[in-house]
Amino acid sequence: KRSRDQMIIDAGQKHFGAIVCKSCSMIYTAGSPEDEAQHIQHHERFLEGLRYVGWKKERVVAEFWDGKIVLILPNDPKYAVKKAEDVREIVDNELGFKQVSLSCPAKTKVYLFVSNEKMIVGCLVAESIKQAFRVLSEPGAVPSSGQDALQHHRAWRCSTEPEPAVCGISRIWVFGPKRRKGIARHMVDTVRSTFMYGCYLSTNEIAFSDPTPDGKLFATKYCQT
Ligand code: ACO
Ligand code: ZN
Repeated sequence: KRSRDQMIIDAGQKHFGAIVCKSCSMIYTAGSPEDEAQHIQHHERFLEGLRYVGWKKERVVAEFWDGKIVLILPNDPKYAVKKAEDVREIVDNELGFKQVSLSCPAKTKVYLFVSNEKMIVGCLVAESIKQAFRVLSEPGAVPSSGQDALQHHRAWRCSTEPEPAVCGISRIWVFGPKRRKGIARHMVDTVRSTFMYGCYLSTNEIAFSDPTPDGKLFATKYCQT
């Protein structure tokens, strides 16, 4: 280990230290040939997993100038369900969910945002629920950034009184370079209009489960507007 560190120093690289890839979110050491090679391998596998080939009879539930949203249901053909599962795995990996199984796969709806370049740049997993516990705001106690936020991000206080809800969003994810362009907003709007046939769900009827700091910022903003 020490000799490798030494090598990095001796090589006199311009870029040093730990880098988080904005696309595949792998942390690697710039200037370390071994790390960089590993990153390239992981990066390409990651992008490959997000490639969307498509299929006949895909269920397009919304279209936008920059892409479309495809809905996959549990009884769809195997290849469609498989694609949804593969993408969910990539998302879980990035969110740090390790082998969290869905509470009920038969009730799960997966929404994929597919860009015009045929790449999956957004994924939302929605499940039927009956009730939810509201996240309580903690004035002044919200860790803003850094390690503190990472360690405490699953520690929001929740109310003990269940409230009725219809749709639980168990995962929402947007490809790093495509964030803050309204893709998550488009996906949640689409869930609200298509999750239950014939009605548009209010923001009170949808619940975000176990949100990350990003997820909480998005949900707070979304539910206000
Ligand atoms: N910080 C502050 N405000 C934010 C953030 C953020 N990181 N993300 C969204 N918002 C707010 C903004 O007000 C934004 O509007 P603006 O850009 O005009 O200011 C508004 O929400 C709408 O944002 P979108 O562009 O629709 O959101 P985006 O497509 O970037 O996706 C998401 C948001 C899904 C949370 C994305 O940041 C992401 O994938 N993060 C990593 C994965 C993750 O943490 N997912 C949530 C897990 S929790 C769960 O799955 C239940
Ligand atoms: Zn990468």
